[in-house]
This record gives sequence, C-alpha cells and structure tokens, in this order.
Amino acid sequence: MKPITLHVCCFLLRLLQIPISNATPNNEESTTATTSTSIVFYSLGRLDYSFDIFSHPSSWINQPPSIAHEIKITDGQWVNFNGHFPSPSSSSLLSLLHNQTVDRPGPPPLQLIYVSERNGVSNIYYDEVYYDRTGCPRSTIRKRSTFETSIRVQIPLLDLKENTQSRISMKDRPTLAGDYLVYVSTHEDSGVARTSTAAVYSTELKSGLTRRLTPYGIADFSPSVSPSGKWTAVASYGARGWDGEVEELSTDIYVFSTRDGTGRVKVVEHGGWPCWGDETTLYFHRRGEDEWWSIYRAILPSHGTISTESVGIERVTPPGLHVFTPSTSLGNNNFIAVATRRPTTKFRHIELFDLKTNEFKEITRLISPETHHFNPFLSPDSTRVGYHKCRWGVRGRESPKLLLQNLPTTPDSDFSLFRFDGEFPSFSPTGDRIAYVRYDAVYVGNVDARNHRQVYGGPAFFTVWDPVRKGIVYTSAGPNFATEGTKVDIVSINVDDDADETRIKKLTTNGKNNAFPSPSPGGRWIVFRSGRSGYKDLYIMNAEDGEKGGLRRLTKGPWSDTMPSWSPDGEWIVFASDRDNPDSGSFEMYLIRPNGTGLRKLIQSGSDGRANHPWFSPDGKRIVFTSDYTGISAEPISNPHQYQPYGEIFTIKLDGSDIRRLTHNAYEDGTPTWVPKHIKAVDVEWLEDRPGCDFQDLHCLNDLPSHGVGAKANVVNVPNKAQCAHFS
Ligand SMILES: *[C@@H]1O[C@H](CO)[C@@H](O)[C@H](O)[C@H]1NC(C)=O
Ligand SMILES: *[C@@H]1O[C@H](CO)[C@@H](O)[C@H](O)[C@H]1NC(C)=O
Repeated sequence: MKPITLHVCCFLLRLLQIPISNATPNNEESTTATTSTSIVFYSLGRLDYSFDIFSHPSSWINQPPSIAHEIKITDGQWVNFNGHFPSPSSSSLLSLLHNQTVDRPGPPPLQLIYVSERNGVSNIYYDEVYYDRTGCPRSTIRKRSTFETSIRVQIPLLDLKENTQSRISMKDRPTLAGDYLVYVSTHEDSGVARTSTAAVYSTELKSGLTRRLTPYGIADFSPSVSPSGKWTAVASYGARGWDGEVEELSTDIYVFSTRDGTGRVKVVEHGGWPCWGDETTLYFHRRGEDEWWSIYRAILPSHGTISTESVGIERVTPPGLHVFTPSTSLGNNNFIAVATRRPTTKFRHIELFDLKTNEFKEITRLISPETHHFNPFLSPDSTRVGYHKCRWGVRGRESPKLLLQNLPTTPDSDFSLFRFDGEFPSFSPTGDRIAYVRYDAVYVGNVDARNHRQVYGGPAFFTVWDPVRKGIVYTSAGPNFATEGTKVDIVSINVDDDADETRIKKLTTNGKNNAFPSPSPGGRWIVFRSGRSGYKDLYIMNAEDGEKGGLRRLTKGPWSDTMPSWSPDGEWIVFASDRDNPDSGSFEMYLIRPNGTGLRKLIQSGSDGRANHPWFSPDGKRIVFTSDYTGISAEPISNPHQYQPYGEIFTIKLDGSDIRRLTHNAYEDGTPTWVPKHIKAVDVEWLEDRPGCDFQDLHCLNDLPSHGVGAKANVVNVPNKAQCAHFS
C-alpha cells in the first residue's frame, strides 16, 4: 500500500464492492469435501509480472507525450488488463449500479471497465475514479502530480457464485453496450475435443440475465460491438476448429446480432481482433503475405446479403513494422490506436495511426521506451488512449510478489490449488519443503518462503523427492526438449549436504537423455525415460546405486515414452507416449505395471492432442496432468509470450473417467504435482524483493521480414526527439 503513505494528505481511497446481480447471493461455505491434499503447478512467467491499466491523452495541444500526463487508472492490486472506456450513454446506468453519491467538485470521474484477476478469480470490474487536482503535493517518486486518485468506486460486474463453474473461468474483452455487458467467458464446456471454451456472452446489468451469443461447439475471441450496439464482430475458427497454432491464429472474422447471436455470418477470411469504425467498417489485424503484422479495413455492404465476397478489404498500415490489436473510437474516423513492434526497438508500444495522412504518432515509446504496452483502447470522445503494462517500475514494486498463488476450486474438490513461482515444483514427503527449477537451476525452500537456495547450478529440468530418504531430490541434469542422444543424466541431490563434492550423485552413466525420474513408493527403484536405444523408452534402476546397481527396460518401441509417475501403492506407472502417432507432437497417457504387464491407454486425447506431465494423487485414485484439450483461450498476440498457451491443468480417474478442468486462462499452465499434504488455501508471498516485469513479448514479433524494410523505411516515420516536437 505504498501510495497511501506517499500521499497521505489526499489519498482517501474508498473502496466499495457491491454485487449487482439480483440473483440470491450464495454465502454457504462448502462443507461437503475435506481438503486433505494440494495440487501445485507452474504457469510460464505468470507470477513475474502484474498489469495495471494506464491512460494518456491522445491529442497534445501544447506538449509531446509525457509521463506527467500518464494516469494509472486501476488500483495496483492483482492483474488488471484489457480495458474499455464506456460510452456516455451508459454513464447513468453505471452510477445507478453503485447508488453512491460521490460529492465532489471538479472534473467528472474517469470510468473504466476491465478484466481483473483478484484472489485468483477472473471477473469484469467497473471503476469510477475521481481525481483531485488541488492540494496534493507533487510526489518526488511518481511524477503524476495532477492526477492522484482521491476516490475510487469499484464494482465487480458479474455475479460469480461460489457453487458454479462460472467462478472458475476466464473473463475477457468486456464492452458495455447500452445496458448490456458483452464479454468472453470460458465457463461452459464446449463438448468438443480440442475446442476452446471461450465464448461471447451478454449480461443485462440491471437484471443479471445472461445470454450466450456464440453457438455451442464453437469458440469466439476478441468481441467488438458496433457503434449502434446492433452488431458484434469476433475472431473465430467457426466449425473448422483449432489446428494447434500458438502465435498467429488463422481465425476468420464473423459478425452476429448483439441481441441474440442470430444472423451469424463470416465477413473476413483470416483476421483477428476486429473493431468497428462505423456500422459498415471493421478494422482488424492479420499477418500479411509479406509477413508483417498489419491493420486492414473491411467495408461491409450497407444493404443486401453480407458474405466474404461482398466485403471489400484493404490494407491500412504499411510494411516495415508490425502493427496489431487496433482500436477505434466510435464516431471518429480520423485515427485508430494500435500496438506496434518497430525494427528499432525490442518493445511493444502504443501509437496512433492517422487514417487521413497515413502517419504514425508514437505515444508510449516516448514515455517508457523499455516497457511493453498492450492492447490500446480509445475513449468515446477519442481524447484518451488506454493500455496496460507492468506496474512494477525499474526501481522496485508496488505490490507483493507471490511464491504460491491460491486459486479457486469447485466446492466438491478435496484439494487446494496453487500456481507456484517456479518450474517443476515437487514437495518433500512431509510437505514443508519445495524443490523446483528456475532459470535451469534447481532450488529448494520452505513452503512459507523461508530459506530458498540453489542446490544445483544446472542446466537441469524436473524435480522429485525420495519418499523415504530425507532431503534427497532427483533431477535430470542437462538441456530440456533435447534429442535422444543428448547428454542428460539423472542425479540425486542431497539438499541438506553443504559440500559441493558430495551433494550431487550421478545415477545414470551413459548420458543419453536420461530424464524424468520417479521413485517407487518404498524408495528402492526409479523409473525414468532414456534415449539410449535411439528412442525414448522407460527403464527402471536402483535408486541408491543408480543403473550400476540394476537396470531393467520397461517399454520398447520406435516412439517416445516419457514423464513416468509411480503410483503410491506401487501397482502402476503412468506415462506420456506418442506411440499412436510417433513424432506427430501428439501425446497420450498410458498405464503399465512395473513388471511390464497390463499396458493400457488412459485416455484418448483426440487427434493430435497433448496430455503430458501426469502425476498420481496421494490416494492413487486420480492423476493430475496438463493438456491442450481446451485449445487456446485468447489471441496469443494480446498477451506476453507463452510457448504453449493452450496448457491447462486437468485431473482424471484411473479408469479414464471424470476428466475435470482445474484452470482457465490464456497462460501456459504446466508441470503439476499432487502434494500429499494439505497446503492452506491462502497466498504465500516471497519474503524478499524479486525481479519484476520479467517476461518476453510474443516471439514471432522478433521476426523482421526482410522484404519491405529498406524500401519502406521512408514510409514508416520513426520520430526522433526533434520530430516529436512536431506533435505539439
Ligand atoms: C439508493 O439509496 C437510497 C437510500 O438508501 C434509496 O432510497 C434508493 O432507492 C436507492 N436507489 C437505487 C437506484 O437503488
Ligand atoms: C505382474 O504384476 C501383476 C500385479 O502385481 C501380477 O498380477 C502379474 O502376475 C505379474 N506378471 C508377471 C509376468 O510377473
């Protein structure tokens, strides 16, 4: 809560949280299930950053873009992103919602609708922020002298009841159209393998009545409502379905009636992130034939039948830089707001593009050149542009970094669920210590965040504790995702041994991609995968003496068997295999007895699906794993880089029944572990400061297509300092 101490004189923050749905609130605590265990997993880089929504004037009367005019609108708590400025016609509705007379002279409040993940729960919020222009001393740390928040009204816009799947879902891309909130939610199962559950809904705010606008069995992303509110445009695969893409999607653009989803028609082949210029003009992004991401314009016929043939398409932004995630301001056809990646910077920035002169006007690069800025949105009068970025500055942080983030579960779950700030987490048999991988090195620490330290410098991947011998952790020493012949060995680490010479013990000897060890319940054997035959198969060796003390081959074949996990009763080993379609990238889970009998497929993951990193529950009845069964949940270009944005965490029973999805988001969730002890369902913070804002932008934006750069360099005007003065 640093801002309060900095601005005591004027920081009278009032926080109101009023559920607005008329539905009966459900306050009953779940008492049906006892939580005796925990599931913990890693999300790629997720706990390394937190977003807030900021805004800057889009027109400069007398001055160039300046940090002094950038306002942080959201409250610096949790992750806030994908904002929307509501139109004036919705203002009276919004003030009715909170029925709160905010008695303030001065300018009208800033109103914002946005997505926030608070306490691990994703919801859409409305903030009304009153800024105090007088009597507030200029802060020496944050130069936002004229725009300090005096009063904030904050309201969650959707009623997420405890006992429904709705609470455990992702919400995204809100727009307020009249009395209706239009947004994406993932709470309904699509019923179709490898189909995202992202769908567009509309909720009448006065009544809470919610209607699904996307047909069942289909996924829609990135909705945009037309100025009149009549039409909604989305990016969608339609019935074709997702084919596994993770950076640039080959979605098409569809339009349907905002009222009830009827009249659905495809208007553009290959495009995403649509936004309306007027009732018959759509802007969208696509990676063009010349491989530059660019903004395009689609002109819809004003009369007659709409089809892809009747829609005229023209390119709006030139090659020579990547331009994406466009935003229009309703009724203003002079400029659009866009995000860009210019060849001159490694950072994603917000700019305006003048539709009359075809010139860019940079905004954020001139303020915060070394910060990524995401997903711009314009105010209805087009005077302000909003965007989100990491709130942690170079010099520290404004909210705690989490070691363990507690996430919601359904009331009948018998485990607590956590996102952990490290790869391949695993817990000691007593449940009080964690081993994990960070930056390819192995670390160990207490669950309460004390005593975290490196125990093996790596490179290494995967961790698992010996169930019997105290302080023994196994890992795979070598590079991840490597070929069969790559040097990787299984080592044991005595994490309580301070002597470098004796702490590490190598258990395999041939160095041919020996990885993913899993000890038998008594700690006598280790099952692991090895590439020693030229293919990755499963082997069992002695846990203390390594393969010298006894080695037995468990599986054999021209494919990859990997990531085994030994059941707590010793009867089964579960593993991932591509044996049905070797080298296709498709992995399914199999069970086999340690003596090599009883092989059976646990689940059919559908064509080309992935089911990886299985781990037995402590009672041996279920398996937690990571999979792409629910596709992707948002356009990857609207988020930081994720190698596998489809990764979500699931559980399944040993007979292949009762598949349950535990996570809903656009991040890469993976490497789950099922902890034999119950971890209290609360967040755990790191004790010391950790690096913040440490994430990568979408990798494909680093590609700079050669064609176009030289030729178009004069077209693309990259302003230097002198040129920026020209904006004033
Ligand atoms: C607002 O609150 C006042 C006083 O509590 C009440 O009389 C009035 O009906 C409320 N208005 C709405 C729209 O809920
Ligand atoms: C393998 O193990 C199972 C279960 O323990 C047992 O029933 C079976 O007889 C064993 N088969 C062989 C060939 O050892």
